[in-house]
Amino acid sequence: KKVLDTDVFGKRYVYMDITESTNLEARKLAQQGAEEGTVVVTEEQSAGRGRLSRGWYSPFGKGIWFSIILRPEFLPSEAAKCTLMAAVALTKAFHKMGLSAAGIKWPNDILVNGRKLVGILTEMSGSMEEINYIVMGIGINVKTTQEELPEELKHIGTSLAMEGIDIERTEAFKIILGELEQQYYEVLSNGFEGTLEEWKQLSVTLGQDIEVRAPDHTYEGVAMDLDTDGNLLVKVADGTIKRIVAGDVSIRPK
Ligand code: BTN
Repeated sequence: KKVLDTDVFGKRYVYMDITESTNLEARKLAQQGAEEGTVVVTEEQSAGRGRLSRGWYSPFGKGIWFSIILRPEFLPSEAAKCTLMAAVALTKAFHKMGLSAAGIKWPNDILVNGRKLVGILTEMSGSMEEINYIVMGIGINVKTTQEELPEELKHIGTSLAMEGIDIERTEAFKIILGELEQQYYEVLSNGFEGTLEEWKQLSVTLGQDIEVRAPDHTYEGVAMDLDTDGNLLVKVADGTIKRIVAGDVSIRPK
């Protein structure tokens, strides 16, 4: 019986009760030659990883903690846009589940009313010329309740359940993998342009007063646009436009 709606994503499906991090597991498999679309999913992560060397809270049975192996033929410089692509696909999946308030904070957090529902961590292996593989790790809070959130996440985290979306994880996963696969093949056939446009439509960052903590500097200004590489363009006080390649955005209340 076919459980998933996808053709390639999840064709090889590795299910675990517990693991350190599905990104680590997926990287091991990718190094052994695992094919594109291989999915590693676990009930719990003992050392879930987040962006900027942070951890990721991944309690047993409460979320969808998974990674997908991709082997696209585009240039390594394009890999960062895969994360934007994932954010677009996931946001569309949440809209399908009835959560219309889900939107994207640059580059790839999915927020509902300012609280984080999803994190994405993309890791690439390859050279300057060629991508060997990409591991796209995605963590979705599904069943977690407000009481269960650790102290430091109480005001910044949310889950589908907390947003009133009562859905089984298998059903949610099916919708999510479907959207991811569709978006990925759209990018492979038509390039990133359309997906970046969709990103802009789904963004909660553009047009806002923001603060960006970039590795070298903190900027304050208005988020104006994305450039064609997915970098964020911020207009600062003196009117100049800064191009932000990496960093953490906070949206400043009006
Ligand atoms: C972030 O900091 O926002 C990114 C969080 C990414 C979490 C997911 S959960 C599945 C995969 N395995 C990991 O260790 N991290 C990612």
